[in-house]
Amino acid sequence: MSLFEERSREYAAMINAAAAEYMSTESFSGRESAGLERMLEAMAYSLENGGKRIRPMLALEFCRVCGEKPEKAIPFALALEMIHTYSLIHDDLPCMDNDDMRRGKPSSHKVFGEADALLAGDGLLTLAFETVLSAPDMSSEQKAAAGLALAKAAGCSGMIAGQVMDLANEGRKAPLEDVAKTDRLKTGELIMASASMGCIAANADAEKLNAAREYCADIGLAFQIVDDILDVTSSSEVLGKPVGSDGENEKSTYVSLLGLEKSKEMADELTEKAKSALSVFGDEKEFLLMLADKLADRNN
Ligand code: IPE
Ligand code: IPE
Ligand code: MG
Ligand code: MG
Ligand code: MG
Repeated sequence: MSLFEERSREYAAMINAAAAEYMSTESFSGRESAGLERMLEAMAYSLENGGKRIRPMLALEFCRVCGEKPEKAIPFALALEMIHTYSLIHDDLPCMDNDDMRRGKPSSHKVFGEADALLAGDGLLTLAFETVLSAPDMSSEQKAAAGLALAKAAGCSGMIAGQVMDLANEGRKAPLEDVAKTDRLKTGELIMASASMGCIAANADAEKLNAAREYCADIGLAFQIVDDILDVTSSSEVLGKPVGSDGENEKSTYVSLLGLEKSKEMADELTEKAKSALSVFGDEKEFLLMLADKLADRNN
């Protein structure tokens, strides 16, 4: 097995185990209710349902390359995946992208109804911050810094702003600058927060933090461009979500504006640029180099 396969499997196993633990009723001991039970079922349905776990992997790896054991960053990593999963539940709602399949299964609102899907998203969003604030082995300063980085990235000047712009761009040919800004906000910000939170978990210096964020800014935009390419070129079996959704919703994307070939070129350029930001990590950067390439060449 290659270094990449071995480490990414190890990270995924760590995240999946933590997700199962945080979604168990035992972790809410003394706070049980019928509402909690219903929410845990709906939240776990989406959170424990696969996914590539890219954001938590980045947090664990940046923690490692900055000199700490990756395990230390697990609560921060899981919080990132909770925010990401909530964003997917809401993104699929009929009032947004109206998609009926996610991670190879019916979307949350198809199984639990719109109201409980909305609430399961709210539940994950809130639990993410509870998870950051109650992280063991982390100083108050680290928890505050991580919580702030996550809030800024996910909130109304970050991911949510991007989702608003994404919807506003529907049905019109938005200029490429608007689409780039949309993608950097809706997808890039949370990926950059993954870098920040991993670095914060390891008390990394500003030079490493800035390099990590620079790398993630570029793989983040490339990630959304590839997501838009796959919406055209892949199949729902491989993706685990519907294809052709962007076209149906008349989204403005790199693909709709520039075509497939040029979009792929842009994603590849961003990937190379991202890799060149990693020199401060010396020999430790190998996994991150491979990850950037894998994300650019992925098929799901
Ligand atoms: C999908 O994210 C939504 C985007 C921001 C492009 P992922 O492609 O990371 O989805 P999962 O987590 O693997 O399901
Ligand atoms: C979603 O972008 C970005 C989010 C913040 C959820 P998309 O709408 O393209 O994501 P998919 O294709 O549904 O996963
Ligand atoms: Mg969307
Ligand atoms: Mg969508
Ligand atoms: Mg998409």
